Amino acid sequence: MNRFYWGLASSAFQTEGYIQNDMTEWEALGGFRQDGKNPIYRHGAAHWQRWQQDFKLLQKIGVNAYRFSMEWARIQPEFDCFDHKALDQYERMLDRLLGLKIEPFLTLHHFTHPAWFHAQTPWVSDKAQETFCRYADVLLERFGDRINYWITFNEPLVWALAAYGDAKFPPGKNNLNDMMLVVKNILQTHSCLYRRIKSALPLAQVGMAKHFIIFAPRRKWLAADRKLADLLHSFFNEMVPRAFKSNRLKFRFPFLFSFDEPVALNNQVDFWGVNYYYRMLAAIRMNFRRPIGFDFKNISGEGLTDMGWEIYSEGLLRILKQVAAYGKDIYITENGIATTDDARRIRFMDAHIQKTLKAEQMGVPVRGYFYWSFLDNYEWLEGNSKRFGLVHVDYRQDFARSLKPSAAHYARLIQIDTTKRKSLELKKF
Ligand code: FCB
Repeated sequence: MNRFYWGLASSAFQTEGYIQNDMTEWEALGGFRQDGKNPIYRHGAAHWQRWQQDFKLLQKIGVNAYRFSMEWARIQPEFDCFDHKALDQYERMLDRLLGLKIEPFLTLHHFTHPAWFHAQTPWVSDKAQETFCRYADVLLERFGDRINYWITFNEPLVWALAAYGDAKFPPGKNNLNDMMLVVKNILQTHSCLYRRIKSALPLAQVGMAKHFIIFAPRRKWLAADRKLADLLHSFFNEMVPRAFKSNRLKFRFPFLFSFDEPVALNNQVDFWGVNYYYRMLAAIRMNFRRPIGFDFKNISGEGLTDMGWEIYSEGLLRILKQVAAYGKDIYITENGIATTDDARRIRFMDAHIQKTLKAEQMGVPVRGYFYWSFLDNYEWLEGNSKRFGLVHVDYRQDFARSLKPSAAHYARLIQIDTTKRKSLELKKF
C-alpha cells in the first residue's frame, strides 16, 4: 500500500530527564554561560517516568510512527559498564510502541554523550568509531529484531559546528579543521554502523537526519553576500550528501578552512532524514573574528517564531526537490515551531504539510513527516523556555501534560490523509 508515516519526533535527553551526561557536566562547569545564556536542565519533560501516559497520548493523536533516541549515557555510564536496567526500560518502551502499532524510528546519536566520552575517545580521534560502534552493537543485539528504521546520527554537521567550531556544546572547542575531522570521523562511523546493521538485518532501512537551511543574501544587491549565501548552501546543505557519492569530504571555505580527505561511504544510506526549520540571511562583515553575520527577517510574511527563526514553508519544497536528486527515500524527520500561540502552530503545520504533499505529488520520494516535537521539552541553548510541543508540559505543576489544539488538528489531518490513501489503494484493484 501507499504507506506514509505520520509521526512525532523527540530525543532522549530533551524529554526524559534524570540523566547525567556531557551536557549536564558542561552545564555544571558553566560551559553554557560563555554564550551569555545559562540554560538549566530541569529534567526535560520527565518522560522517563511518564512514558506510559505519554505513549497513550501518541495513540490518541493517531501517529503511526515515532522518532526517538535512547540516552547513551544512561546505557553506558562507564566505558566498561552497560546498565541493564536502563536497557530493560527501553525494551518495555519499544514493546509498548509496537503494541500500539507505532513504528519506531530510532536515532542512535542525538547530540549527547556519556560524560567520560570526550576525555577518553573524542570524535576528533579515530578511536571514537570503535567506541560508538561497540555501543551500537549492544542496541542492535538487544532490539534489532524490532526496529526497521535506524537513524545513525542526528545533524552531525550541526553538532560538530557547535562542539568543535563554536565552543557552544561540550567539549567546547573552536578549531574549524578539527571540526571537519570530527565530521569525517562521524561519517566514517555512520558507514561502519550501516554495514553492521545491514548485515544483521538486511531489510532494515538505515539513514541519517540532516539539517537543511535556506540561505539568502542579507543584501541582495551585494555580490559578496550572494556569493556567501551560495557558499553556505554548498557547505551546509550539500557537502555531506556529496561525500556519500564521491567518497571524499572536501570543502574550501575562503579565509576559514580548507579540507580534503577520503571517506569511504560508498553511498551507503537508504534514506535521508530532512530536518527543516527556516530561511537564514547571511552577510559578510568587517569583523575578522566573526566575518559572517546571520539574521532572520520576515520576508515570507509567515512571521518569525519564538526562536527568532523566519518561517518559510516554500523552503521545504525547495529542499525536498534538492534531496530528491540524491536518489534515496526521504523522511521529514523534524519540522516544527516554537510558539506559545497554538493557532500559529496549526498554520505552520498546515503550510509545511501542504508542501510535503505537493512534493510527493511531484514525484519526490517523501515517505513520512515527523513534527518536532511531541512534548514541550528542553531546547539546547534555550532551556525550557521554548515550546515546540503538540503536548503542553506544565513545568511548575509536576510536568502535567495536556494536549494542545494543534494535537487534535494533527490527529484530524492524519485521519483524513490515511483514509484518502486507503481509498486510492482500493481503487487500484
Ligand atoms: C534541531 C535538533 C532538535 C531540536 C530542534 C529544534 O536542530 O535536532 O534536537 O532541538 O532543532
